[in-house]
Amino acid sequence: MAKDGNDTQGGKQAKHETDDMLGEGKADLFEDPVADLPGFNQTSSRIAIAGHPLHAMSVAFPIALTFCNFGADLFYWWTGDVFWARAALWAAGMAFLIGVAAAFTGTLELLFVPGIRARAAAWTHAGIAVVLLSILGANWGYRLYGYEDAVLPYGILLSAFSVVMVGATGWHGGRLVFDYHLGTSDTGN
Ligand code: HEM
Repeated sequence: MAKDGNDTQGGKQAKHETDDMLGEGKADLFEDPVADLPGFNQTSSRIAIAGHPLHAMSVAFPIALTFCNFGADLFYWWTGDVFWARAALWAAGMAFLIGVAAAFTGTLELLFVPGIRARAAAWTHAGIAVVLLSILGANWGYRLYGYEDAVLPYGILLSAFSVVMVGATGWHGGRLVFDYHLGTSDTGN
């Protein structure tokens, strides 16, 4: 049984329901063995400066730049001004490079914090993030061979896809923090 205060209420209720269905004590057969791993409840961020997690600090940049990239593509489509095609090239490149840096801090968190490493949701987030980074990298690399010609139609399509993927990655990252309380601090009350 998880010793985490967050799930004891729901856990007890589920145990009672299973006991009701199968008979006293049978619910133990269905306990999640992962919750018994040593360090399951150690979820505080370790990759942090003065307690502030580097991953949470750095992800804002690739998220914002991915939206900027799509916006610049739309403006180029609308106005035909080459400025926007160049702005999109820079936004795509910076979204990718800072995204890789953010992924590095996230990966360290995943590997070195036992309670984060133990949860499947953290690995799911990493998987979605790697898909996102592949699209960001492809979008940037494609533009390096002629940033103006690249925008329509494939550049803007890649940008639209990366906006969807960055939304999914950011939303899922938020779940890790707000629902699972991963990468947070245990010093407050
Ligand atoms: C392989 C790469 C990645 C791994 C392993 C990873 C892992 C994690 C982990 C463990 C957390 C929980 C908080 C923490 O421990 O700091 C988190 C949160 C988060 N991640 Fe990632 N991440 C990766 C890449 C990304 C990327 C590329 C983005 C977006 C561009 C992203 C967006 C977020 C967001 C928005 C949060 C919530 C932060 C908060 O609200 O404080 N992650 N990630």
